Amino acid sequence: MTTASMAGYGCEADNLAVQYESITFEQVHAPVLHLLPDAPGHALDIGAGTGRDAAALAAQGHRVVAVEPTAELRAHGARIHAGQPITWLDDGLPDLPVLAGRAERFDLILLTAVWMHLDAAERQRAMARLADLAAPGARIVITLRHGPVPEGRRMFDVSLQETVALAARHGLSSLFETRRPDMFGRPGVTWSVLVLTPLA
Ligand SMILES: C[S@@+](CC[C@H](N)C(=O)[O-])C[C@H]1O[C@@H](n2cnc3c(N)ncnc32)[C@H](O)[C@@H]1O
Repeated sequence: MTTASMAGYGCEADNLAVQYESITFEQVHAPVLHLLPDAPGHALDIGAGTGRDAAALAAQGHRVVAVEPTAELRAHGARIHAGQPITWLDDGLPDLPVLAGRAERFDLILLTAVWMHLDAAERQRAMARLADLAAPGARIVITLRHGPVPEGRRMFDVSLQETVALAARHGLSSLFETRRPDMFGRPGVTWSVLVLTPLA
């Protein structure tokens, strides 16, 4: 599929594959590891890139669906993690139409460095979809990039506060919020990390 939010990823995919795979799932998600499901379950990685996190979750025993609209990144992911049982889908936010046809619910949903690519109207539709996709007790992990926008990308200045407020309007409550520096040390770049769960 093609959406405006993917701008800049296909043409950079070869370099990005090296970058994305140079860090580990445990490093990327260190602040929230204690909140992730202990038992293997059903996991969804939205905007999975080259599948670093999807592969780590599959290795932990989760059944993993990786959604990635950029064909070049999907191809790298399928090659790099060929040994892992990951279901790759060519699909995208805000509506995830392909996933809708599968009628699945997930115990863990990752949106790592994806949400700030959506505009305000898309974020509203996407939050409704996340609420539908979350199983009872699910954890939804969202990371938001702040700072300068890389050339050729479409990115919005999305705050942690507005994301928590939007989630609350869709029956999702905040379990954990933090800020952290950029793992690659890029000038001016910082991150917010948010874990949501459906209200019981
Ligand atoms: C910064 S990369 C992060 C990749 C991966 N999550 C990681 O942490 O390595 C952002 C990803 O979001 C994907 N993306 C962009 N727009 C999207 C959308 N509307 N729905 C789902 N994924 C999207 C891009 O193709 C890209 O793979």
